[in-house]
Amino acid sequence: MEFCDKIKLARKKLRLSQHAFAKELGIAYVTLNRLENERFHPSYDTQKRFEEFCARHNINILELGGASVNQVDLGSSDYNEWSSYYDKSNNEIRSIIESLKETPWLNKRVLEVGCGTGRFTEKIISQVSTLTAVDIDSGHLDILKKKAASSEWGSKCKIILGELYDLAENELSDEKFDCVLFTWSWRFIYQQGKADRVYKAVKKLLAPSASILSTMTIGGQWEDAIDRIVGTRESDREINMNRAANQYLIDILKKDGFCNTDFIQTNYFEFPSMDVAQRLALEMSGVGDERKEKVMQILSGNIGGDGKVRFSDVIQCIYAKSDKREDG
Ligand SMILES: C[S@@+](CC[C@H](N)C(=O)[O-])C[C@H]1O[C@@H](n2cnc3c(N)ncnc32)[C@H](O)[C@@H]1O
Repeated sequence: MEFCDKIKLARKKLRLSQHAFAKELGIAYVTLNRLENERFHPSYDTQKRFEEFCARHNINILELGGASVNQVDLGSSDYNEWSSYYDKSNNEIRSIIESLKETPWLNKRVLEVGCGTGRFTEKIISQVSTLTAVDIDSGHLDILKKKAASSEWGSKCKIILGELYDLAENELSDEKFDCVLFTWSWRFIYQQGKADRVYKAVKKLLAPSASILSTMTIGGQWEDAIDRIVGTRESDREINMNRAANQYLIDILKKDGFCNTDFIQTNYFEFPSMDVAQRLALEMSGVGDERKEKVMQILSGNIGGDGKVRFSDVIQCIYAKSDKREDG
């Protein structure tokens, strides 16, 4: 088993989020993400830190294995915290609708792939006919299930754990959808080498004249700030991966004769205070508390008169329709 699989398994065994695990290892979150997802070879220093981590937690590195590394069970709490700071001014949905001059999900049977904790799901559910929310992370889905159970829209939302290509052959084999959404998820599917299989499943599930919408970050001030804190341009790799994933989607849609369009929009994260921004920046960059002052200096350019800390998030939206004739 490769080192990156061992890292993921050790983290899963202790049910640590990527942020918490990176902090324990004393490496940047972006580096851990690369190790786990890009199967990037670790430095000698990182290997040593991992060995020390395993010794601290009584994990026998040689015996790690057995569990599936396919399902990325991230301890979801910090992702949920993150997503609560995203797009506070609710610009995202408004500007997608404005740019497209239509509401792709309006009164439609919607499939959302990579719904996570339902951050986007919740915002559109009142406008859809039905929504099927799919994700491979059971922790994220547990949070969405709780939200659904305590809300009026729960009965409209079907929540399913699994890979879309498996579901398309099983639970969803008799279903059709008018609108398929990849909400900040296509890049991960691409990175896991599943893009073609997932896309094939989407095509199987599409009703005539259906549409596909994918949204993904391709830049932003937060990534720049983290790079300044860490002192490398690691985030560029992340952003380049997102761009490559987006381009791959655009190319397959074009090749398939879809009528597609893409556009850029800027949304914002808004942290309630500098304390919160500083804590998350420390977690994400993996630097020690002794760098708190420096982190504060870097973040202070983004603090407003109201004490809130805002960072831009530049998104590429890709929109495609399955029936060219409809668009003339
Ligand atoms: C950045 S989060 C976005 C979550 C949510 N859509 C939002 O906008 O807040 C990416 C999501 O994609 C999910 N994901 C990753 N790989 C996936 C796959 N192969 N199939 C379905 N979902 C996947 C992750 O578990 C995670 O919930």
